Amino acid sequence: MTAPRPVGTQGRGTFLGLMRGFRRDLLSALPERLYGAWMAEFRNPLIHSFFCNDPSLLRLVLQERPEDFPKSRRMREGLAPLLGNGVFISNGPEWAHQRRILDPAFEGGRVRDSYAAILDAARAAARRLPAGEVDIEPQAAHAAADVIFRSLFSMPVEHRIAADVFDAFREHQEAQPLVNLAALLPLPRWLPRPHSRRTRSTAGRIRAQIAQLVADRRAAIRTGTAPADLATRIMTTPDPETGQCFSEAEMVDQVAVLFLAGHETSASVLAWALWLLAEHPEWQARVAAEAALLTDDFACVPQLKASRAVFREALRLYPAVAMFVREATGPETFRGRAVPRGAQLVVSPWHLHRHQRLWDRPDIFDPGRWETPEAKASARAAFLPFSTGPRACPGAALAMVEGQVMLAAITGAHRLDPTARRPQPVARLTIRAHDGIWLRLTPRT
Ligand code: HEM
Repeated sequence: MTAPRPVGTQGRGTFLGLMRGFRRDLLSALPERLYGAWMAEFRNPLIHSFFCNDPSLLRLVLQERPEDFPKSRRMREGLAPLLGNGVFISNGPEWAHQRRILDPAFEGGRVRDSYAAILDAARAAARRLPAGEVDIEPQAAHAAADVIFRSLFSMPVEHRIAADVFDAFREHQEAQPLVNLAALLPLPRWLPRPHSRRTRSTAGRIRAQIAQLVADRRAAIRTGTAPADLATRIMTTPDPETGQCFSEAEMVDQVAVLFLAGHETSASVLAWALWLLAEHPEWQARVAAEAALLTDDFACVPQLKASRAVFREALRLYPAVAMFVREATGPETFRGRAVPRGAQLVVSPWHLHRHQRLWDRPDIFDPGRWETPEAKASARAAFLPFSTGPRACPGAALAMVEGQVMLAAITGAHRLDPTARRPQPVARLTIRAHDGIWLRLTPRT
């Protein structure tokens, strides 16, 4: 079966048309040729951007000279009220300081320390899911938020503060659904921004609640009663260069980032992966059989081979972060074309993962491909669900374990069948479906 994608436009269209299209849905507003081009330039009075699909350009921007291509300043506009100067949007020495503290909490085998939290959240999700026709998107969001709260603060999402933060995040995203696209579509300053007051107010509410969690944790660390979770690890790790730990204010920024970057993304991929399994009973049976392998011991995770292949294939077809943006700090020449200072460089996992010159049968769901040497070669050049280089996602290992465990636990407990409604992907903060992702769930006896 072809994993659906919106059909792109054939030409460039007028600027206003493109702008209206972007506001409706970025994926279908972009031209079809991006699935076959190595690079594409977009230019109008407000924006000059370059879509980079050429693997050597991606290496240059993300790995070889990342300091010359920082995160786009335009990205900050929408995200700063919520994330402050958190690691997702900071740049330069401030960003390096933040990563020196955060990385040890996620590095190497540390994901093992979050395994109990992930397994508890997966079992809770399998128990919570109702029978019948269900929009799986909000269920996946609930499950992913549960993983983050249990991993960070050792509390389930049902805890009063966790539930409040989760609800406020949902409201925030409804108020600011285009936030990630700000870099691609800079609206003129004089244009009234929809909901901007509401956005600021939900961001303020979320930050106040996170500040409370951080203050409570600081007190628990002082009295030696803090649990050994991610928050404690991060708050007690000094920057090896300066000896400084995060202040409470800095920690609020980082918690907001970890919550946003860690739950929206995982929720999006999980929802699409469950839908793909509903469409592919043969893979569903293999993943469901792996539920029996789940134990309290982290050592069971490498055995979840089908779950891993399915989650990777879902990450390829629905990569959660559809696009991310860097900025050229000086003039460059890309593929013989002049790139001026300030140009926006768009990395689009969405197009890269379905690129006709980089993948065999790009729109087809085939988890078995991950065993083939061709797919391994494509993956080395053109599989960037977590980005790459020094700004790559620090939560990638945690997200992979979470994805596998969630798929096995949920599919082991419920048979998944498609409904008459076919989901249409749209790019919001992450890749969502236009009208929900509907499945029919039947509890397995
Ligand atoms: C399937 C799940 C996930 C996907 C697809 C994903 C993807 C990404 C991508 C593409 C980026 C780079 C964005 C950019 O350069 O603009 C990123 C950054 C980041 N992610 Fe993830 N992520 C996932 C889960 C997580 C989790 C579970 C956490 C933490 C618990 C996390 C924390 C972060 C942070 C802190 C950054 C910013 C890194 C920096 O800028 O230095 N992510 N993620």
